[in-house]
Amino acid sequence: MNAVITGASKGIGKAIAERLAAEGFNVIICARNTDALAAAKAAIREKNPAVTVIAESVDMGDKAQVMAFAQKIKDTWSTVDILVNNAGIFIPGALHDEADGLLEKLMAVNVYSAYHLTRELLPLMIAQRNGHIFNMCSTASHHAYPNGGSYSITKYALLGFSKNLRRELMPHNVRVTSVSPGPTLTASWDGFEGPPDRMMPPEDIASVVWNAFTLAKQTVVEEIQLRPMLGDI
Ligand SMILES: NC(=O)c1ccc[n+]([C@@H]2O[C@H](COP(=O)([O-])OP(=O)(O)OC[C@H]3O[C@@H](n4cnc5c(N)ncnc54)[C@H](OP(=O)(O)O)[C@@H]3O)[C@@H](O)[C@H]2O)c1
Repeated sequence: MNAVITGASKGIGKAIAERLAAEGFNVIICARNTDALAAAKAAIREKNPAVTVIAESVDMGDKAQVMAFAQKIKDTWSTVDILVNNAGIFIPGALHDEADGLLEKLMAVNVYSAYHLTRELLPLMIAQRNGHIFNMCSTASHHAYPNGGSYSITKYALLGFSKNLRRELMPHNVRVTSVSPGPTLTASWDGFEGPPDRMMPPEDIASVVWNAFTLAKQTVVEEIQLRPMLGDI
């Protein structure tokens, strides 16, 4: 079984890649920073020597690089069982005073990345009549936050992408799940000084992904929302 996870050198993506490898999946991961990527690849291989781990340096905000990454995946595998569109960046801001160009930048990394990669890999899934696509949305896909700004717009867009895809892929037997976490303890929160139990561990996001995948093939978990016990921060 083969899985592609974007933005998987750290945080939620890395936790999902580790979990899928532990369940016996070959994984292809990507991120931009080659050192962090190599470290993630080494950590996954060390724990799971029986699976193939391929790590590619890709800027998912750059369409040409996404297309080249997709080609590399298709040259490596003839089937993809799980695609996790996880790569994303969080830059807080308010719509009235955030930097010019922020919306374009966040749309490229948080939305267009998933659109282009999914379109490239979908023919494999449709042909095999099997596959599961997870889109890493956010609680910011569901309601507005004071500092959500363009980030929130992109996460609403990714949820819209996910819903459309789900409807479209019903007859093709390809499952689509949006995962919307609240605060999760990753590098995105570097500098946060509150108690760690106000955050969820990224391994829990990996667990819900795995649990959704392992249900009966005719069962589709369409949307997942997770929050810490005390709610959003
Ligand atoms: N943590 C949370 O509280 C939270 C809550 C809701 C949703 N999310 C979503 O979950 C996803 C993962 O977040 P995280 O908190 O795990 O973030 P993280 O710890 O900062 O990790 C992000 C990962 O994505 C990679 N990445 C970032 N920009 C990229 C790009 N342009 N091309 C390729 N890879 C890129 C990073 O590596 P490089 O920087 O080296 O590229 C890293 O591997 C995001 O979509 C985020 O919006 C997170």
